[in-house]
Amino acid sequence: MDKFSIQGGARLEGEVSTSGSKNAALPVLAACLLTEEPVVLHRIPKVRDIGTMKKLLRHAGAELEELGNGTVRVQACAIRKPEAPYDLVKTMRASSLVLGPLAARTGRARVSLPGGCAIGARPINLHVAGLEQLGARLEQSHGYIEAKVEGRLQGTQIRFERITVTGTEDLLMAATLAEGETVLENAAREPEVTDLAELLTKMGARIEGAGTSAIRVQGVEKLHGAEHTIIADRIEAGTFLMAGAITGGDLVVRDCQPEHLEELTAKMRQAGATITEEGPGALRVRGSGRLRAVDATTAEYPGFATDLQAQYMALMTQAQGISFITETIFENRFMHVLELARMGANIRIEGSQAIVAGPSPLSGANVIASDLRASASLVLAALVADGETVVDRVYHIDRGYEKIEEKLAAAGARIKRAGSK
Ligand code: EPZ
Repeated sequence: MDKFSIQGGARLEGEVSTSGSKNAALPVLAACLLTEEPVVLHRIPKVRDIGTMKKLLRHAGAELEELGNGTVRVQACAIRKPEAPYDLVKTMRASSLVLGPLAARTGRARVSLPGGCAIGARPINLHVAGLEQLGARLEQSHGYIEAKVEGRLQGTQIRFERITVTGTEDLLMAATLAEGETVLENAAREPEVTDLAELLTKMGARIEGAGTSAIRVQGVEKLHGAEHTIIADRIEAGTFLMAGAITGGDLVVRDCQPEHLEELTAKMRQAGATITEEGPGALRVRGSGRLRAVDATTAEYPGFATDLQAQYMALMTQAQGISFITETIFENRFMHVLELARMGANIRIEGSQAIVAGPSPLSGANVIASDLRASASLVLAALVADGETVVDRVYHIDRGYEKIEEKLAAAGARIKRAGSK
């Protein structure tokens, strides 16, 4: 099991480049199941979760060809096996993204229920309820959800009782092939949803309102092939901006989309970091060395991203004052707190709120990553801790960050990957 060894104290300088968005790539890859024609996708990041999604597509019968430099060609001529098996789903809950496409394309889908997850129960009841409203019959047996569709899915009005990103994506994909009109109300507005809708539209889908909370779809008989470049990974870019700020460095984050990071950059500026646009798709962050505590409450897009909460908490351990960080999306997304405390952070949890008192001098320690974004939080803390930090179980971080240690080292961080001894 790989580990990271990080010597704290280096200021990050120079530049890092952002990869394509993991959370855009996952639904976009699943969308390839909706057509028998080839789909060519650019800027697909090489991270573990994408590898899992590629295995899922091959398992269903799609052919994938790696064309190099993040370009993938997917062609699902025939769906041999409309199924997402447990051994793949247990490693990536976003496998539920194939449920809608398989049901819409083949009239059948058998998807393992995702198990628990470190950050919360994360059920997929809203995906299931939406598919039932589209006319599928779903049953649960032996840990699997089995969907059966007589004829075609039937367009309808679906109102999500709570905003769900992959739930919106799953049902948006299903609706593109349903008969008639579907309206998704209280839909997620994340940029990754909009990016998926752009690909689907290129494939011949008829979609209005993507990026708003009401998405209207006119179903079509078939979708055709397309070519698409996915958006930049806003969470990776945000993580790097905070790495630049926490080390008091001077870092340019390239190939990102500043318009997707406005909530974070506004908060970081309020905290005293200097963030400027350095030309198209580039943000420059300069840490002032004296950060001020600023509260954050996570919310669905365009609110403060829950996927940046753990990283922001690490930043606030170095800010002067008390910051209140409230997590509203997941019920257990403070796994990083105990590890940060072991490094010397002063954080108290009260329900869904973490109260951070700073600045606290951090000291290097052996820490364990528990989930993808908690791992990123520990790396940020390690960059400013005194001495060496060893982060164990970095497979968590490899799920969503492409070569993070190489990118950070190129900007001056003293970080290296060590295989398990
Ligand atoms: C997506 O997960 C992201 N993953 C997550 O990123 C992100 O944290 C999350 O959205 C919130 O922004 C991908 O896009 C692949 P949700 P998703 O459905 O879609 C509850 C990362 O770090 N819910 O929006 O699974 C759920 O339990 C990952 O890259 C139901 O109750 O999240 C949660 O409390 C982590 N029933 C809330 O809604 C459902 O059927 C939001 O979940 C679905 C969700």
